[in-house]
Amino acid sequence: MTLKIGLLGLGTVGTGTAEILLNPTGRHPLLQEIEIYKVGVRSLDKPRTISLPPNVLTTDLESIVTDEAVDIVVEVMGGLEPARSLILKAIAHGKHIITANKAVIARYGAEIFTAAQKAGIYVMLEAAVGGGIPVIQPLKQSLGVNRIRAITGIVNGTTNYILTRMQAEGSEFNDILADAQQLGYAEADPTADVDGLDAADKIAILASIAYGGRIKLPDVSCEGIRQVSAADIAYAQKLGFVIKLLAVAKREETALVADSPDSEMLQVRVHPTLVPQTHPLASVSGVYNAILVEGEPIGQVMFFGPGAGSGPTASAVVSDIVNIAAVLKTGGNTEHLHPLLSCSHQHYCRLAPMSELVTRFYARFLTKDSPGVIGSLGTCFGKHNVSLESVVQTGFQNELAEIVVVTHDVREGNFRQALDEIRTLEAVDSIPSILRVL
Ligand code: NAP
Ligand code: HSE
Repeated sequence: MTLKIGLLGLGTVGTGTAEILLNPTGRHPLLQEIEIYKVGVRSLDKPRTISLPPNVLTTDLESIVTDEAVDIVVEVMGGLEPARSLILKAIAHGKHIITANKAVIARYGAEIFTAAQKAGIYVMLEAAVGGGIPVIQPLKQSLGVNRIRAITGIVNGTTNYILTRMQAEGSEFNDILADAQQLGYAEADPTADVDGLDAADKIAILASIAYGGRIKLPDVSCEGIRQVSAADIAYAQKLGFVIKLLAVAKREETALVADSPDSEMLQVRVHPTLVPQTHPLASVSGVYNAILVEGEPIGQVMFFGPGAGSGPTASAVVSDIVNIAAVLKTGGNTEHLHPLLSCSHQHYCRLAPMSELVTRFYARFLTKDSPGVIGSLGTCFGKHNVSLESVVQTGFQNELAEIVVVTHDVREGNFRQALDEIRTLEAVDSIPSILRVL
């Protein structure tokens, strides 16, 4: 029996998906049993790079998700609405769902998975994180027996491209962003990427799978890269670091004391970070993505590859189609969803406030160049239990001395209190940057 696909969207990912499905030779044999039945788009007049059989294209997406003949709905249209409503309607009509839409899943995952679980429907999202990089199924399956200690990822290609070029060229953020927009590497509205929102969606999804609980997206701490300057990148380099936008999900060290999942405290956060040049994530450059998973007993595993793009993302989408096809072909009983393909958790993970985070910090100060300034900074830090690893005064900016400090591990709350006090010092002009250190 052929499985019929209703594809919502024929843009970058939809076209790549159709290209694989229409050209199955040399790929997994199950692809021979999968048919593109309907494709929903916004405009029928738009020129397409792919030719589809007649009457496949439609602008009536609701007719696709309610069509009795459709077995699997592949949502690659993006945006929140109508994507969310169409997914829910498709579930109500018994269609399995594949989506690349991290924004919808990170915000409405609870609603979507609850509906799907009730209806015996699979919702698959390999393409939603890391584009073509297989990371969702590996977390669910191959690494599923590990206790995941941490996931640390570069999961946004646009920001990694911008930071890589800032590093290579010594240029400022705004100049590289403008160029990246002209070259098509950054969107006209870059907010979701440069403010870390896209990475926050993705780490919320990874954390949910790795730690088997739902994540409230507003609780994910999120800082983007707009405030990263060429000066910070240069100082970081001198100190042996590169600056990367990291998405981190980490189990608090004390969280496994009790067996109950309710006792778990997680950190889930996105922020620019100084990464030691010797760390495996430091060499991930340009638009590439990488996700480092640390588990017990496996140790470290790193997934690296293309985090976006038509073909790579379609590879992830179609792998989900094949997974569902395999289950359905072998008599998949949708009253009992395959436990390695479905997500059945319903509780919410507890996220630790950032003030409890223990990490190293980098801070850059502009101060008067007068005797005792470094001493008074040190005194303020000491008062709040902040121990310093290094203090350097390397240059001047318009008569002001530039002092860079790297701390030892410190509770973020203590560090912020120290900074509040330092800001009140007469000799301190400003603190242009505060970054965490891996
Ligand atoms: P895209 O190129 O903008 O394509 C969107 C497609 O959906 C277009 O075919 C568009 O129709 C259709 N569409 C959008 N809104 C519609 C509406 N209201 N009614 C009918 N059709 C509508 O987007 P994309 O880059 O392929 O991204 C799709 C999804 O994949 C997003 O959720 C994105 O976050 C995710 N994703 C993308 C990548 C990537 O590399 N691009 C990687 C990973 C994940 P028209 O063609 O008629 O305009
Ligand atoms: N906008 C994303 C990025 C690609 O820059 O990585 C899709 O996830």
